[in-house]
Amino acid sequence: MELKYKDLVSTIQNEAPFKPELAIILGSGLGNLADHLTKVKSISTADLPGYPKSTVKGHKGFIHFVKYEGKKLLLFQGRIHFYEGYNISDCLLPVHIIHKLYCFNTIITNAAGGVNLSFKPGDLMLINSFYAFNIKKELLEVLNLPTLDQRNSFLNFPSKKLSELIKTASLEANIYLQEGSYWFGKGPSYETPAEIKMMLKFGIDAVGMSTAHEAVYAQSLGMEVGGISLITNYAAGLSSTKLSHKEVIDTANEAQNRFESLIKKAIILL
Ligand code: HPA
Repeated sequence: MELKYKDLVSTIQNEAPFKPELAIILGSGLGNLADHLTKVKSISTADLPGYPKSTVKGHKGFIHFVKYEGKKLLLFQGRIHFYEGYNISDCLLPVHIIHKLYCFNTIITNAAGGVNLSFKPGDLMLINSFYAFNIKKELLEVLNLPTLDQRNSFLNFPSKKLSELIKTASLEANIYLQEGSYWFGKGPSYETPAEIKMMLKFGIDAVGMSTAHEAVYAQSLGMEVGGISLITNYAAGLSSTKLSHKEVIDTANEAQNRFESLIKKAIILL
């Protein structure tokens, strides 16, 4: 990763107007937050030779340097998914960049299907743990972590500091926050109803196709990492309607305001 992306990272380092205090990776349909903040500098990932292209609707492909209420932020509008056919090290590029800009606080966000029967589309969920055993092997091979402590980064998520920040922000902004566990699915398709039935029995709360590997990598680099899921749909088989990417994006659009209020409050409280 170091070598493959060396030039790309140097370009971003040279263009960076400041050292960010907080980085936020914006999930499917949640990128609008970046459109509503004043940018100090925006870099289109299409202008960075070698940056993997996002093929998913709702992922624009920008890295924004933003100042909000005096806080210096780095926003990733668009992410790289494993299910798009990229290998895991490409998917970790945003975290690699965050680290190379000496930013040590990251909030990872995503759209997810609600498995917990008390969740409904539009709910926001603080991620309190994740299931990543179906990706552990690939991930640990790529990370090549020399010490047992680093390999156990899997166990440290989420950061107490950032989770407390998000919880306090939800109280102050008066936005209801669910809390629960996130299942990382490799994709490329949504789950089958039978898989969701299994997850229900396991006590899993939400399911998506991102975040877990990014969180592990960020922790192995010594960062504080928090996670928020926007529940965009009932997971497969839990509602009579057929699951679609359009439903995911539509719900994300409807929930934008609450998501933005929560994030903005967290930024202010940082
Ligand atoms: N499953 C997996 N990923 C998702 C879902 C889902 O139901 N909704 C949004 N991303």
